[in-house]
Amino acid sequence: MPINSNQFVNWFRDSSPYIHAHRNKTFVIFFSGETVLDDCYNLIHDFALLKSLGIRLVLVHGIRPQINQRLNQQNITPGYHQNLRITDDTALQCVKEAAGLVRVEIEALLSMGLANSPMAGAKIKVASGNYVIARPIGILDGIDLQHTGTVRRIDHAAIHQQLDQDSVILISPVGYSPSGEIFNLSAEQLATETAIALNAEKLIFLTEESCLEDNQVIQQMTVSEVEDYLNNGCSVSLEITLRAVIKSCQQGVQRVHLIERHTDGALLLELFTRDGKGTLISSNPYEEMRPATLSDIAGILELIKPLELQGLLVKRSREKLEMEIENFTVIERDGLVIACIALHLMKDQKSAEIACLAVHKDYQKSSRGHNLINHLLDKAKSLQLETIFVLSTQTMHWFIEKGFQTSHFEDIPDSLKEFYNYKRNSKILFKEI
Ligand SMILES: CC(C)(COP(=O)(O)OP(=O)(O)OC[C@H]1O[C@@H](n2cnc3c(N)ncnc32)[C@H](O)[C@@H]1OP(=O)(O)O)[C@@H](O)C(=O)NCCC(=O)NCCS
Repeated sequence: MPINSNQFVNWFRDSSPYIHAHRNKTFVIFFSGETVLDDCYNLIHDFALLKSLGIRLVLVHGIRPQINQRLNQQNITPGYHQNLRITDDTALQCVKEAAGLVRVEIEALLSMGLANSPMAGAKIKVASGNYVIARPIGILDGIDLQHTGTVRRIDHAAIHQQLDQDSVILISPVGYSPSGEIFNLSAEQLATETAIALNAEKLIFLTEESCLEDNQVIQQMTVSEVEDYLNNGCSVSLEITLRAVIKSCQQGVQRVHLIERHTDGALLLELFTRDGKGTLISSNPYEEMRPATLSDIAGILELIKPLELQGLLVKRSREKLEMEIENFTVIERDGLVIACIALHLMKDQKSAEIACLAVHKDYQKSSRGHNLINHLLDKAKSLQLETIFVLSTQTMHWFIEKGFQTSHFEDIPDSLKEFYNYKRNSKILFKEI
């Protein structure tokens, strides 16, 4: 469906907070061998787009169907135990061939730069290497998995060095031991260990299917909900992914996304729109209210800019915000500052001013403003304040509904008078604590 210019401009503006939030963050993205067998041209372009938006990108690909194809050509039935391949010498040869071929194909797609294609001018550098140190899994229940390995260590320093030099990292599911042996690895486990070792902000699994409830994609899950989902039974491929999700969350990856890969552009929708397209599993609360820190300044500025333009909030410079940041409380949702409020103590130490209350327009009318005010009232109580004030041009009624009353200029503390801007002509409201 064609979009008109207004829609485009609005859509582009709406995605800007996400662009800022993701810049310079490390994302590990897993995609299966099946994805590579299908037409993955658009997906690779989307990777290139993420890279050009300043995301530090680590791609981990699978090769299961490519290995099986090679085994089938030799009339060999692939052997598995506990969802792990039994990699004998013949299978290892297939692993080496499949890993090499898939890597080269992806590198070629990432190197495209034809004029008139979405990759024009992208000039992406791809780095692959011996970043994965592995060891054999050994014998499970009496069955020797032979050349099937597990990750022993990820050379995170080498990967970060390449990311610092602006490369996209491409990792195939093979690892090497210090004795020079080659091991076949589970790509899901590899993506997990890589995200943990790199301390990545996000681990993204492009999956064959979604986690569903009443035929709808579940938008958010906690780790214990993922465990429940597993216990209720699901396909082998989803089970492997969900076990990897649990491990990554338990070991400190903050956000794990499951995105069903068949929808064109699902990755972009998940990362750059409000409620995304996939399932987000977070190790820490998805949304939390907390004291602001200096690293929230960019997010606060982004949030309040449109409100300053509408005259709802007083203009604040970055420097002023830096000086006042410890007075601020923010609500953070999936790495984005979606609401803020400040409490400035007056010189008399008995009163304070509420300032810079803002809730992002997409998240209003869900009591976030109410919760922020209540939080500040509790704070004021604990500081044994007597009165809090607020200056407002268009939000008087909202405060009145919260028990504030109108006041007069003469009755406000001198330190508040000093800052009163006659041009704004704000109403003054107060509440006794
Ligand atoms: C005012 C604001 C913080 C409220 O945030 P919120 O999270 O939506 O607040 P709540 O969910 O607790 O309350 C929502 C209710 O307030 C009402 N409301 C919102 N703005 C209002 C206003 N200017 N005047 C009166 N009521 C208002 C909403 O209509 C809603 O009531 P309803 O559901 O009965 O229609 C938010 O609208 C905002 O950021 N506004 C722009 C910035 C601003 O005005 N800041 C205050 C500067 S002094």
